[in-house]
Amino acid sequence: MPPLLELSGLKVYFNTQDGVVKAVDGVSYSVDAGKTLGVVGESGCGKTVSAMAILRLISQPGKIVGGSIMFEGQDLTQISEGEIRKVRGNKISMIFQEPMTALNPVFTIGNQIAEAVRLHRGASKQEAYDAAIKTLEQVGIPSPAKRVHEYPHQLSGGMRQRAMIAMALVLNPRLVIADEPTTALDVTIQAQILDLMVEMKEQYDASVIMITHDLGVVAQTCDDVVVMYAGQVVESANVKTLFAEPAHPYTRGLLESIPSRHKESHGHLKEIKGMVPSPIDLPTGCAFHPRCPDVMDVCKEKMPTLKKCKTGATTACWLYE
Ligand SMILES: Nc1ncnc2c1ncn2[C@@H]1O[C@H](COP(=O)(O)OP(=O)(O)OP(=O)(O)O)[C@@H](O)[C@H]1O
Ligand SMILES: [Mg+2]
Repeated sequence: MPPLLELSGLKVYFNTQDGVVKAVDGVSYSVDAGKTLGVVGESGCGKTVSAMAILRLISQPGKIVGGSIMFEGQDLTQISEGEIRKVRGNKISMIFQEPMTALNPVFTIGNQIAEAVRLHRGASKQEAYDAAIKTLEQVGIPSPAKRVHEYPHQLSGGMRQRAMIAMALVLNPRLVIADEPTTALDVTIQAQILDLMVEMKEQYDASVIMITHDLGVVAQTCDDVVVMYAGQVVESANVKTLFAEPAHPYTRGLLESIPSRHKESHGHLKEIKGMVPSPIDLPTGCAFHPRCPDVMDVCKEKMPTLKKCKTGATTACWLYE
């Protein structure tokens, strides 16, 4: 079976006054039907921009300048604005970190969910409201027939996130992109929302792209993982392989900075030294080389390409060439 979604060599650049920001610079990954793909990496490495590109939500001065995004036999980078609108929210939906950015404060929850059903399915007002209430119930919102008439600010943070998940699912999408869906919530609510997402994914038989900087979230929800650094994929692997045998030194660094994996350091986490480079001014060779504990001469000069290594993972690192 071909993957549900396949990014190949995707490039998204921003033309700014300071120069060209290569936010996404040749990213390839794929999502299999019914699977959850984790996208991890430090802040600024291009996770959100690559996901927004899938829905063609990149605005000026940003532009998709290369690559392809294949979904159900069509290249989403090439289809018309009218065509992408039929995909957006319908076949591919998105859940954001902050529900208030996605929910409109001046309309009721029910109105917003029902509107999507009317727009994409041509349902009557009553049918659309019934679908909204049913979905709100599925995502665990109590008294959905009453809540459907409430405004976003009347719901707690956790309930708002549930409402956004309902909105993302109501049209039974093939793919849900979740961008840090639990980061803004407190810890107990985070766990509930993650459980809900796993349950809903099964029920709706959808695929998920889970964008997160939290490897705990990855362990709990993902089948496969891509690790991004400075606008590129540096490793992609099955989740078990990634945790058991991380190949790229950057992946190892990320894993070593998880609290539970570092008991011997008495609570002091090992951090990856240095900072993510500016995407306007990337280092030569491998972009990670100035921070890499295993750096060699070749790393400073030439960019490694993605290759299969013996763990089964694919990684871009001179250690495995
Ligand atoms: N409108 C824009 N104009 C210029 N640069 C941008 C714009 N939007 C994003 N970028 C840059 O693109 C790069 C990738 O950003 P992106 O938001 O994808 O990072 P991220 O991996 O999602 O980070 P985070 O974990 O903080 O959400 C960053 O360097 C960011 O500054
Ligand atoms: Mg982001």
